[in-house]
Amino acid sequence: MYRSRLKGSLDEHVLAYLSSMDEDTSLLPYDIVGSEAHSIMLYEQGLIDKDELARILEALESAKSISLDELRSMKERYEDVHEALEAYVIGKAGMDAGGKMHTARSRNDQVTLDLRMKVRDDITAVEYAILDLVDALLARAKECIDAVMPMYTHLQHAQIGSFSHYLLAYADMLLRDVDRLESCYARVNLSPLGSSAIGGTSLPVNRDRVASLLGFNGIVENSIDATSSRDFLLEFCSCLCITMLDLSRMAEDMVLWSSSEFNYIELPDELASTSSVMPQKKNPCPLELMRARASTVLGLLASIMGIVRSLPSGYSRDLQESKRIAFDIFKIVYESLLMMRQIVLGIIVKREDMLKAAEKSYAIALDVAEELVKRRGIAFRVAHRLVGAIVAYASSHGKTLRDLSMDDLKAALDPFRMDHGVDMVEAISSILRDSDPSGSLRRRSSKGSPNPSEQERMIHEREVRSKEHRAEIDVRQERLEYALASLQDTVNRFLG
Ligand code: ARG
Repeated sequence: MYRSRLKGSLDEHVLAYLSSMDEDTSLLPYDIVGSEAHSIMLYEQGLIDKDELARILEALESAKSISLDELRSMKERYEDVHEALEAYVIGKAGMDAGGKMHTARSRNDQVTLDLRMKVRDDITAVEYAILDLVDALLARAKECIDAVMPMYTHLQHAQIGSFSHYLLAYADMLLRDVDRLESCYARVNLSPLGSSAIGGTSLPVNRDRVASLLGFNGIVENSIDATSSRDFLLEFCSCLCITMLDLSRMAEDMVLWSSSEFNYIELPDELASTSSVMPQKKNPCPLELMRARASTVLGLLASIMGIVRSLPSGYSRDLQESKRIAFDIFKIVYESLLMMRQIVLGIIVKREDMLKAAEKSYAIALDVAEELVKRRGIAFRVAHRLVGAIVAYASSHGKTLRDLSMDDLKAALDPFRMDHGVDMVEAISSILRDSDPSGSLRRRSSKGSPNPSEQERMIHEREVRSKEHRAEIDVRQERLEYALASLQDTVNRFLG
């Protein structure tokens, strides 16, 4: 359609190579609505007359029911959705009206507009999906405040914790992911339209009017920036990548914890796969794929960053390739969020096995040392040394700390008798008698610890925060829907 300067039509292999019609399928609705707003502005600015506007709008409205197949059949002839849609409008409205639609517009500002409109919808969808997952985590955390388990550092028993504390940690990370997306939304929600190819236009456009018709919060002012920057897209993809990394760490924990060696959780049958040959198998395949897809997302993020790296200012066709990557990242992360929610709601928590592991472990050691500091007023370093010696003794005798007799304790502490008086053995023995895992959680008093009442407080606070986030997004979404419904009313008025 654009080739008067070039002889003949584009070679068919070249066309197939450079077409973005596949990924543009998801941009078509935005391209239509964006074209409607642009055309209304052209009319308001006296650049087209009322009859021409009505014919353009009529064609654009009918384009809303173009089937995917019709779009596919256009693939043979057009490089992208913008060319295909303009050709369609000219076909319907005639060159004298339809041929005016692209006045004061280029595909460069047009494609960025479409992208920004899609990304703001995608952000909203991801935010709701994250909040749904957060709510699932909070619901399970509520049930699991007293599900005692060992916590790990270096994947070695570290301190006694609870399963609710674990779930809450991810709720907090995910709530921060929502914060990041909220802030990203503000930078996405700006209209680039009216920048032309790179340097603006001599025609009297009203950029702010188009922005407000489309529910944007303002415009991307500088026409070079508006047409050729993609930092909004990189930011969106980076946010999603961080979310995917959160999911991958949860997935890894759950793969591990559903193994026979841990047996802390079990997937319900409907979420597990089996083996074609080993009849006993129950494989956590959705979690494994989530772990793997985090790598895919990381690779895609590197790819999209790589496309922008060292690109000369102004639009280059390279940017087209960023769309498909961003769409793929969105799809993977969105689907993974839904999957993880289903898993979190479905997992069976094996409290007895968790508790047994906690009781068998030496994860109580730090609590014992701290109790010694509290009761005896000794230096923490001395307490650390004494309890370390007891753990070494217990471990080499195949006992837990609570199995140790007075004689064991005496023998364990003998090398350190310079460090303490005779009553120290009695003090430690009494601390060990009081030190069951649940009691130790109740004594853990610092803010943000797995102490049960801290858990209750934190769950409640997160529930409130999740609701607040949802309410903010609802309001933002209602405002956008109102703007788009008003645009539709305006279109309808011109159509009579
Ligand atoms: N299909 C192109 C893309 O997705 C649209 C912009 C084309 N602009 C151009 N000057 N060739 O980026």
